[in-house]
Amino acid sequence: MDLFQAQERIAVLSEQIREHNHAYYMNDTSEISDYEFDQLLEELQKLENEFPQFTEENSPTKRVGGAITKKFETVVHQYPMLSLSNSYNREELIDFDQRVQKLAGKKVEYTCELKYDGVAIGLQYKNGQLHRAVTRGDGAKGDDITENVKTIRSVPLKLRGDYPDDFEIRGEIFYPISVFKALNESREDIGEDRLANPRNAASGTLKMQDSKVVASRRLDCYLYYVLGEHLPFKSHEENLNAAASWGFKVPKKSEKLFATYQSIEGIFEFIDYWSNGRNQLNFEIDGIVIKVNDYYLQEELGYTAKSPRWAIAYKFKAEQVETRLNEITYQVGRTGAITPVANLEPILLAGTTVKRASLHNADQIAKLDIREGDLVQVEKGGEIIPKVVRVNLSQRPVNSQPTKYITQCPECQTALIRVEGEAKHYCLNETGCPTQIKGKMTHFISRKAMDIDGLGEETIEQLFAGGLIHNYADLFTLNEQDVLKLDRMAQKSVSNLLQGIENSKQVPFERVLFALGIRYVGETVSKKLAKHFKNMNTILNASLEEMIAVDEIGEKIAESLYFFLQKEEHFELINRLKSYGLQFEIIEEESTQVSIIFEGNTFVVSGVFENYSRNDLKKTIEDYGGKNVGSISKKTDYLVAGDKMGPAKKEKAESLGVTILSEQEFVDMLD
Ligand code: IVH
Repeated sequence: MDLFQAQERIAVLSEQIREHNHAYYMNDTSEISDYEFDQLLEELQKLENEFPQFTEENSPTKRVGGAITKKFETVVHQYPMLSLSNSYNREELIDFDQRVQKLAGKKVEYTCELKYDGVAIGLQYKNGQLHRAVTRGDGAKGDDITENVKTIRSVPLKLRGDYPDDFEIRGEIFYPISVFKALNESREDIGEDRLANPRNAASGTLKMQDSKVVASRRLDCYLYYVLGEHLPFKSHEENLNAAASWGFKVPKKSEKLFATYQSIEGIFEFIDYWSNGRNQLNFEIDGIVIKVNDYYLQEELGYTAKSPRWAIAYKFKAEQVETRLNEITYQVGRTGAITPVANLEPILLAGTTVKRASLHNADQIAKLDIREGDLVQVEKGGEIIPKVVRVNLSQRPVNSQPTKYITQCPECQTALIRVEGEAKHYCLNETGCPTQIKGKMTHFISRKAMDIDGLGEETIEQLFAGGLIHNYADLFTLNEQDVLKLDRMAQKSVSNLLQGIENSKQVPFERVLFALGIRYVGETVSKKLAKHFKNMNTILNASLEEMIAVDEIGEKIAESLYFFLQKEEHFELINRLKSYGLQFEIIEEESTQVSIIFEGNTFVVSGVFENYSRNDLKKTIEDYGGKNVGSISKKTDYLVAGDKMGPAKKEKAESLGVTILSEQEFVDMLD
């Protein structure tokens, strides 16, 4: 390829990818499969490596990250990033409306939108290119996090249409709840603490130095405020619509994420709609924002030192109740981490009965000064897990004693250790502590690891209690007679179980590696290690330095892996597993194409699934020859519908005669 051809191909590919990206993330449609998209991106990346002189400033390859920011520069905001005044009840909104109307001297049009509970961001665009992305900081100046923001697929890097040369657009970056849950699950898989809530998680992710990691996290962003000297319109709604045409993800009227009203009653309806509907959203909101639509009137109303007088937030109340803390108990995790749990007098909160809440660690207990017998305030916001927010000190029983954090493991009495820099206490007796042993076995058999059919947590309990297994390698020595002797074990379930164990010997190496339960070695890391080292022997012989040298394996992971393998008992376990025939090397050029039953069929996958992540499902469809697209059209053959799928999608599928499949029906088709 000569220089001219390279330059041209780079330009064509960049444009194509941008178009596909826009169609997928903004319009929810897609003309090509994920696989084809990745191929285009790969081709572009290769050409850019070869001909760096033609790489565009905001090339779509920036989406995959790579840039490292050692220190985030402080940037002064061109327009200060103000906050909103809050209101908690309808009277305050009526007051707001009256103040505004008085000044306007006429009926005023308001816009209503959601109050996104994420991280505020200001995006500056110059000549249609993303120039800078800055956090709120103290309102006057914030941090330049451009490289990380470039990896967010719904933030356009290059604009389309008729945009102003120089303007800023503000919005909120957040974790979709499904992504946040998956992130926490994989953290738990590798023995890391769960992250407390999506907002803090998003804020932490955006401050990471390695943009590649940020790219892998699938953050999303809604934009809700356009600022600049030369905006095309004089109302908030019109400017937001214009921003949508330039390529931004803005809340749409058609999805009820945006509305305009001329009366306070309309605003109340919007509030009622979302205070009920917020649980259906795949992101967290903490209220509703009401703004004056007309920019002239906004200017007239002006600002206080902290917030505009033309807007107000209505905050949803996090529901709170008071109840008695009966007891603090302590849970032992698979990795030996101790989690204190508040056992509460059962109480109804936001529609569910709450009996327990996590107290996280010793510091949290000290911070709350929480004691058994206390009356405590329990809260459930938009968040999924209830938390204890306060102790009612005025009601503290007279004989109350400060909580003494346990010093020994509640399961095996081993003295607990707290490593400097870690929040949690640990029981290090991993081969003798029954809870840890069972936890490791449960992890070993889990779906993402060995995926053993016919075997669940309860059976593990039973086999362990019956003395038939002491570690996961023992599973492969089970025989029919012994298992049949256990309670409630019928012939059929025993054969299923043994067959499931036998089948698991075909599970590929990277999943076996994950199944071993090495701290910090999750699914992705296992894949990286398997790909790099090819087999277990090479890993066993690798030095710590060689492990650290693997792409994306940091010191923490490498040390954990290295010292795990140094232990005699682990070495023995691995050797036993090898001798039973488990896969300890990768099968090169493994073709995942199983059969092409879906050839010529187009699928839309939507919602949350029990046994598949959405990506797994899409991959399966492609493995079987099908094509994934983002939105339903006449050409769609199947809609695979999970939980929490929006009703609009279902209606559309029905009206176009698209076959709707449940997860089970999809699995049945594969069979
Ligand atoms: S408008 C001058 N609209 O809430 C005010 N803000 O405390 C411009 N927020 O700073 C902000 N959703 O971080 C606006 N739909 C929305 C919002 C929103 C969330 C955040 C934003 C703001 C804070 C106000």
